[in-house]
This record gives sequence, structure tokens and C-alpha cells, in this order.
Amino acid sequence: MIKPNQTVVVLDFGGQYKELIARRLRECKVHSQILAGSTPIEKLKEIAPIGIILTGGPHSVYEESSPHTTPELFELGIPVLGICYGMQLMAYTLGGEVKSCKVSEYGTIATTLDEDSPLFEGLDRATVSLMSHTDYVAKMPKGFKALAHTGDCPVAAMENAERKLYAVQFHPEVERTVKGTKLLNNFLYNVCGAKGDYNMDDFIKNEIERIREQVGDHQVVLGLSGGVDSSVCAAILEKAIPNQLTCIFVDTGLMRKNEGDEVEAAFAGKNLNFVRVNAEARFLAKLAGVTEPERKRKIIGEEFVRVFEEESSKFAGSFLAQGTIYPDVVESGLTTGAVIKSHHNVGGLPKETKFIGLVEPLRSLFKDEVRELGRKLGLDPKLVNRQPFPGPGLAVRCIGALTKERLDILRDADAIYREELEKADLHYSQYFAILTDMRTVGVMGDGRTYNYVLGLRAVKTSDFMTAEYAHIPYDVLDRVSSRIVNEVKGVSRVVYDITGKPPATIEWE
Ligand code: XMP
Repeated sequence: MIKPNQTVVVLDFGGQYKELIARRLRECKVHSQILAGSTPIEKLKEIAPIGIILTGGPHSVYEESSPHTTPELFELGIPVLGICYGMQLMAYTLGGEVKSCKVSEYGTIATTLDEDSPLFEGLDRATVSLMSHTDYVAKMPKGFKALAHTGDCPVAAMENAERKLYAVQFHPEVERTVKGTKLLNNFLYNVCGAKGDYNMDDFIKNEIERIREQVGDHQVVLGLSGGVDSSVCAAILEKAIPNQLTCIFVDTGLMRKNEGDEVEAAFAGKNLNFVRVNAEARFLAKLAGVTEPERKRKIIGEEFVRVFEEESSKFAGSFLAQGTIYPDVVESGLTTGAVIKSHHNVGGLPKETKFIGLVEPLRSLFKDEVRELGRKLGLDPKLVNRQPFPGPGLAVRCIGALTKERLDILRDADAIYREELEKADLHYSQYFAILTDMRTVGVMGDGRTYNYVLGLRAVKTSDFMTAEYAHIPYDVLDRVSSRIVNEVKGVSRVVYDITGKPPATIEWE
């Protein structure tokens, strides 16, 4: 019999970082389960976790409507780590005092670790942590000792070592807290007795079991775009429910050179039903004469839904699978903030459907974890390491009105550009060509030309929210430019985009 993994329960008090905490625990090779802050003590006893983490949250413990807990939680003999609101809740529940700060702390703050603690092994005494709070622990509960402070927060961390209760006012789970993951690792290994018995193989095993349980003998339909997420989603579904999966690949005619065939080849011969819908003519007809970027996106999104609905209507009574990953969940859940560009493949599928449920195996994973999962599942590394490609495809890289001829020019130029960068072993985060709608005069042989200006973009970024342009060596740019102008009819001038994000975005439309 397979031994179950040690588990840490993450009790959610409404903070925005619960999945990030779970992700850090996976990095530390510990399995976790996120549960509501209101989970009954009985349920926790049943799970018997090796530790409990209380997340942050937007509340103040003194608001009546804010989530609370009972002292019993701290009497289970299970180590607890409170983070931000979780720390205040621990203090408040055990008889301490929480007050509103005179000066709220937001951002990275110089933090002094004053005491030795199992939490602080390997951390520097003078460090930096991410704070985000307006309340603080003014008086610790009996039996606690202060471990750290900042300029405006006298108790930035506290412990009751005897009862294995620990708390930090800052957020160890975010990158901006220096050695934050080490602190979590210390909690797991120095306090909870973690053995590090969880890895991606366990994730696969558990997820396969979960998918089988959810789906039973029903069929599952997946919209496969050929991108990393939907491909990895297809791969795990194929392992979990062989011969119960249909992948519908809508070829919009807006893909890169040979991409449609590559996607088909990657899934041919697997235990799934692969349906390729060649919808280029439909998409181009709808997009004829449209130049405004947001209109293009909308039309493509709507047409995609229509084609997908038509194809999938043959599978009424099936489950719908989606390769949603955790950052998509966050992004689509955001209600505030200006819409810079609408991303059609986030929550863009039909709302009213004949499907009986939604299967989302990657919902808790971050992008790099999805790639690792794909590698473990044996997908071609070329596919797994694919750079992001926007849902509306080349439509947003072909400025102005779209025609097959213009898209083909872009495809050929883009393929040369990517080939040369790869040959030069330059692996930037994202790189692609853009066909502008501007034509300029050139000279070739003895004749005058009047052809398009082609843009090249390459950026370095870790989160795609901000980016810097890549410093491509001139000799590589030389080769790219001369090959494109010589080999692609219709382009007579090549320019390189040297703008960062912000102020520009990565895509041109
Ligand atoms: P921007 O251009 O907003 O792009 O700086 C950030 C990242 O998002 C990708 N992108 C999209 N992805 N649908 C998508 O799925 C879209 O409509 C879309 N627009 C931009 C872009 O390629 C970059 O990686």
C-alpha cells in the first residue's frame, strides 16, 4: 500500500497569497491542503496534519464579520504558524491584544531578527520582509516571546516554543521577503518534523485519482490550443482517463508557421480522440477590414466560442476540461484595475453549456510547475518550454487589417527570426515578429520597392507584468534582418523594438 504524504493544512482567512503558500510548501517538498478558516476542529483532527498555517487576510480581528477561530485550534498539539492576519488572530484568540498601527506598513521593510528561533535558522539578523498591515500585535498572549521587530512594528514575529506556536507579521511566502521560503522550510523541518516526502510524482498520482473519481465513465472534451497549459492538461487527462478524452483543436488560421501540424503531431497516436477544425476561412471572413485591436480580440473570442460550441455539441453530457492555471484564476477574479487588454482565453468559454461539469487539473499550479509536470508526463520539451502565445494569435501581431497574404508574410518572417535566435542559443522570455501596416521605400537590385516595415520584439521577464527588451547581439540582428529581407517577399525594412514594459506592452496590439 502507498503511504499517504505528510500534510500541512493552510487555513484560509481571505488573504491573496494562500496558493502561493501552498506552492512554497510544494517547493519544500511538503503536501498541503487549503481549507476555509472556519473548518471545524474535528475535521482537522481527522486530517492529522503535521502543521497548520494561518494565512493573512484583509480584516481586523475586532470587526464582527471577520473570520475567527477557537482557542482549541492551538491546543491540538499541532504546530501552528500564523502569517499577518493569522498572527493577529493567534494573539487575539489566546488573550493578547491587537491594535491599529500608528503608521501602517506596506512594502518591503527593514526587519531585525532579535532572537534565535528554529524559524530563523540560516536567516540574517538584519533582513528585509514584505509587510502589508494596519493592525499589529500590541501585547502578546501569555507564554509568548517576541522574536523580531521593525521600525513601526515592535512584534514582527513571536513564538511559544513549548506549544509550537509561531507567528510572523510579514509574508514569508512572497519573493520580496528575503529568505522567506527558508523560513517556511524551517517551520516545516525544524518545528513540524517534515520528511520531505512530496514531489511532482505524488501530484500526478493524486490528481489522476481525483480526475478518475470526478469523471467516472463520462467523456471529457478539452479545447486544445497547443500552448503549454492545454497540452499538459491533455497529457494528464490522457493518463487518467485513456480513451475518454476528445481534444478539439480549433485552427484559427492565426497560428505561427506550421504550428497546427505540430500540435496535431504531438497528440497523434495517443489514447485520445483528436479533432482538428480548420476554421481559417471563417475567422478571416469575420475579421475582414477590422483594424481596431480590441475589436479583433472580441471577434476572435466570440468566433472561437461559436466554433467550439458547434464541435462540442456532439458531446452533450460530457465534462469540459480546461487548462486553467492558478495565475488565470487570480487574473480573472480581479474586479478592479483597468482593462489594458482583454485576454480572450481567460474564462472565455461558453457559459451556458450542455456539459455536466468542469475538470481543471492544473488549477492550483503556477507556470513553472506546469512545465515540470509536462516534462514528467513525457511531453516533448519543445512543447513544454514554449513561450507564451496570445489567444488571439497573430491577429495582434499583424497591425491593421488582416489578410491571408499579410499573415503569411508575418509567419515566414517570424519563423526566420525565431530560428536564428534559437540557433544563436538565445532563449529570451518571449520573442516574435510584428508586421506593421506601414510601407516604406527601399531599393533592391536596380529597382525601387515599396513594402512593409517588420518589427522584431524580444523581452526578458519573469512575470510578464514588467519586461525589459533583450540586448540581442548585433551580428544576430544582422543575420535576421538580411535573411528576412531576402527571403520574405513583402518586407523591405526591419526594425528592432527597444521599449520596456511599462511604458509599452509586450505585444504591439
Ligand atoms: P502584454 O502585451 O499585455 O502581454 O504586455 C503580456 C503577456 O500576455 C500575452 N498576451 C495575451 N495572452 N490572450 C492571451 O492569452 C491575449 O489576448 C493576450 N494579449 C497578450 C503576451 O503574449 C504576453 O506574454
